[in-house]
Amino acid sequence: ELSPIDKAKFVAAKRAAEFVESGMRVGLGTGSTAAWLVRCPGEKVREEGLRFRGVPTSTRTADLAREVGIEVISLDEAKWLDITIDGADEFDSDLSLIKGGGGALLQEKIVATASDQMVVIADAAKEVESLGNFPLPVEVIPFGWQTSQALIEEMLVSMDVMGRKATLRMNGERPYVTDEGNHILDLHLGRIGNARQLAMVLNQVPGVVENGLFIDICDQVVIGFGDGRVETRD
Ligand code: A5P
Repeated sequence: ELSPIDKAKFVAAKRAAEFVESGMRVGLGTGSTAAWLVRCPGEKVREEGLRFRGVPTSTRTADLAREVGIEVISLDEAKWLDITIDGADEFDSDLSLIKGGGGALLQEKIVATASDQMVVIADAAKEVESLGNFPLPVEVIPFGWQTSQALIEEMLVSMDVMGRKATLRMNGERPYVTDEGNHILDLHLGRIGNARQLAMVLNQVPGVVENGLFIDICDQVVIGFGDGRVETRD
């Protein structure tokens, strides 16, 4: 028996899995919601003969996809994707997103941007009026990360945000390391007034590789509820 939150994630993933058709090249997201997504079509692969190729957005997702029998290819092998289905940490009414709570934002953004369509699957708690309550992940290269942190905090003074603390994400005693060997700074902003501007300015800092704001990338959100209901936003 699933808890209400897992049920919400599961029903959203199940609905979105219906978008996957044989022959498609599909971007596979990362996180606890996206893990359901990988399992659902995985079932159809084994039981109904669905045949599609998946491009995972993390080593975690790649492992899971292989485990459930999905044919895994790289983005460069796929070249372009029909659809990417992924989770999110927050989404607003413009379908702007904060992603990267799971640390995979860089591959997720590259894969989503290389897709005809990006569909986000989320439980209802992820819907917000304005982004920023969830700390915004920013991927920085390890070299000079403290300098990048200081530059980011300084730059945030002139941005329309509430807070401006940037903390290094840890994995126990050590800095968290992404699939690309980078670190993550989590920006505690409280409220982001101009997400589009912030996304652009953050990427101007030399040590920043990418940030977790997804603007004009997501086409549809499939929202799951604990009672099994599903709603969509587009
Ligand atoms: C991974 O890097 C993230 O972007 C995830 O998509 C996000 O953190 C959502 O994860 P959950 O589905 O586990 O909430």
